[in-house]
Amino acid sequence: MNNTLEMTPEAFRQLGYQAVDMIADALGRWQQRREPARRPVPQEIRELLHHQPLPRHGRSPEALLSFVAENIFPYSLGHNNPRFFAWVNSPAAPISVLGELLAAGMNASAAGGDQASTYLEHAVLNWLKEIMGFPLESGGLLVSGGSMATVVGLAVMRYVKSDGQVREQGMHQSPPVVYTSTEGHSCVQKAVELLGIGHRFLRKIPADGNFRMDLAALKLQIDRDRAAGLVPACVVGSAGTVNTGAIDPLDEIADLCAQEGMWFHVDGAFGGVARLAPQAADHFLGIERADSLGIDPHKWMYIPIECGCVLVRDQQAMQDTFSLVPEYLRDDRQLPWFAEFGPQQTRAFRALKLWLAIGQIGLEGYRDLIERDIELARLLQKKVREDPDFELVSTSPLSVTCFLYAPAGADNLERLNQGLLEVVQEEGTVYLTHTRLNGRFVLRANIVNFRTEEADLDVLLDRLRQAGERCQKL
Ligand SMILES: Cc1ncc(COP(=O)(O)O)c(C=O)c1O
Repeated sequence: MNNTLEMTPEAFRQLGYQAVDMIADALGRWQQRREPARRPVPQEIRELLHHQPLPRHGRSPEALLSFVAENIFPYSLGHNNPRFFAWVNSPAAPISVLGELLAAGMNASAAGGDQASTYLEHAVLNWLKEIMGFPLESGGLLVSGGSMATVVGLAVMRYVKSDGQVREQGMHQSPPVVYTSTEGHSCVQKAVELLGIGHRFLRKIPADGNFRMDLAALKLQIDRDRAAGLVPACVVGSAGTVNTGAIDPLDEIADLCAQEGMWFHVDGAFGGVARLAPQAADHFLGIERADSLGIDPHKWMYIPIECGCVLVRDQQAMQDTFSLVPEYLRDDRQLPWFAEFGPQQTRAFRALKLWLAIGQIGLEGYRDLIERDIELARLLQKKVREDPDFELVSTSPLSVTCFLYAPAGADNLERLNQGLLEVVQEEGTVYLTHTRLNGRFVLRANIVNFRTEEADLDVLLDRLRQAGERCQKL
C-alpha cells in the first residue's frame, strides 16, 4: 500500500529522467517528421481514460508514468508537430517546457510578495510592454490566455465607465455598449456576458472586403446608439482575427475612440506580437494607443499553454478595479501584489517559461521566427494561387490562408471540401481545420510554427489533393 506522496531525491531523479526522456524522444520524432501531426484517440483508450474508478489505493509512480507514456502522452491535438496548421496553436519552445517543470518544482504562487517570481514577472511584463509600444508605467498581468486578457481589459473599462461605481453598485447604470466586428473573437461576447453587460449591448459591426472592421458602419452605429440614449463605451479591435488574420484599422479606431471618449481595447491574442515582423508592422499602427491590450505568448511566442498577457495603460485604474487585500494577506512592505490587478489570488509562475524563451532568442530571434512564419504563409498562398486544383479565398498580413480544393468541373465545393477535410483529419499526416467566410465553407491553414518548412506545405497540398480525388470518386 502506498500512503505517502513523499519521494526520495533519488527516486524523483530517476522518474524525472523518464519524464524528460519521454519529451526528448517525442521532440526527435516531431523534428524528423516520424509521427503524424495528429493521432485520434482510439476508442478503447477513450474508454480507458474516461471511465476510471476512483483509486482506493495508490500505484507505483513507475507504473503511473508507464501508463502516461502509453495512453496519454501520444494523444495530444498535435500542436508540436511541424505539419500542424490548425487554429492558432504553436509548438512549445523546449526551453519553456523546462521552465514549466521548474516553476512547478518551486511551487511558486505568483500572487506577489518578496519572491523571485515577483521580480521576474515585472521584468517580463516590461519586456512585453516594450514589444507592444506600451509605456513602462502601464499595468500588466500574465493571465491564462486571450480570453482572460479580454475579461480583465473589459472589467477595467466597465469600472472606469461606471466612475468606479460598479464594484459597489453592480450594473445599476445603463450598460456600456461594446463594439467589435463580426470577425471579432467569441471571447469578446463571453467577456461581455460574464461582466453582466449582456450581449444585447454588444454590437457586431460588419467587416469590409478584407475582413476588417468597417469604420463607417462603426461610426453610424455609435451615432444611432447615442441617439437612442445608450452609452457607447468601448471598441474592441482585433489585431489578427482568428478566421483570416485580418487586422482592424487600429489607428483610425483609436482616433474615433479619442473623439468619442470611448475605451479602446485591442484583442491581439493571435497577432499582437507580429508587430515585430517588418512585413506586418505597418498594419499595427495605433495598437500602442489602446487603453487595454491582450496578447497571447502561448500563441505566437511559442510558450507552452497557458500564458496570456493583459496590458492596461492606466495602472491605477487596473488596481482600483480589482484590489481587495484581506487582513490575513496584508503586508504593507510588499504591496501591491499581482493579485490586486486581476481576479486570481493564487497564480501560476508563468513568467519563468516566458523569460527563458525570450532569453534564449531575444527580440531579434522572435522577429525572425514570426517573419519566417508569415513568409511561409505567403509561399503557401503562392502555391495555392498557381495550382489550378486550388482556389485562394483570403490572405492577410499575418499567417492564415483560407482556400478550397476546387479542381475544374467539381460541383458542390462545400461538400467536397468538408469530405476531404474529414479524410485528412482522420489520416493525420497533416492537420488543419475549416471556417466560414461570409457563409462559405473554406479550408483554413495557419502557420505559427518554428518547425514548419516549405516541404511541409507541399505535403499539406498533396494530402488535400489526394483526399479530394478520393472523395470525388465516391
Ligand atoms: C483572436 C483571438 N482572440 C482571443 C482568443 C482566445 O484566446 P485563448 O484561447 O488564449 O483564451 C483567440 C484564440 O484562438 C484568438 O485567436
